[in-house]
Amino acid sequence: MKLFVDTAHVPDIEALLPLGIVDGVTTNPSLLAREGGDPDAILKAICGLVQGPVSAEVVSTTADEMVGEGRRLALLDEHIVVKVPFGREGVAACKRLTGEGIRVNVTLVFSAAQALLAAKVGAAYVSPFVGRLDDVATSGMDLIGQVVDIYDVHEFATEVLVASVRGPLHVVEAATLGADICTCPAKVIDGLFAHPLTDIGLQKFLADWERAQAAKV
Ligand code: E4P
Repeated sequence: MKLFVDTAHVPDIEALLPLGIVDGVTTNPSLLAREGGDPDAILKAICGLVQGPVSAEVVSTTADEMVGEGRRLALLDEHIVVKVPFGREGVAACKRLTGEGIRVNVTLVFSAAQALLAAKVGAAYVSPFVGRLDDVATSGMDLIGQVVDIYDVHEFATEVLVASVRGPLHVVEAATLGADICTCPAKVIDGLFAHPLTDIGLQKFLADWERAQAAKV
């Protein structure tokens, strides 16, 4: 399973890249707005760093406008994937952009029916939001399992990109279910590293080693 970072904060990406575990980045209008500054410049900087897929979301609301905005975003960098919100307009825009060879990530997906329609119009990625479903007492992971099964049975090429991830357990569950990608805030990736027994074990190894060295002198 590929790991994307769900952020528009360049320092977070710079800190994670040397670890060799980051395959791409997802942004959304909220994340870019939080950074301030010029969103295009931020997206270009992220593309230059990551050299992998970077989702940039349209803020238009009609298919015609989404196509125009998507074309413009795609020209920013070859790594840009145009994100469109699910809906009639988004689905129509996805079909047209995909026809032009532009990769599309259909976002704000909350049902298997929506994921099916996104795949039918050739989305490169579909983004079901697991955390926001959990927030309304509906299992986000049940949806991931359903979408993975549907895409497998019908051999859709659309990749399942698990979004709205809130903790390491979402990542492990997504991997177990066979999702293609999990996009995580930097703090969730930090959580994937953490285990107290690793810390305790390392302290003991180093202390034993030091003691043995001291006994030699
Ligand atoms: C990424 O593609 C999504 O926009 C993001 O994961 C949404 O996360 P949130 O529900 O924490 O805002």
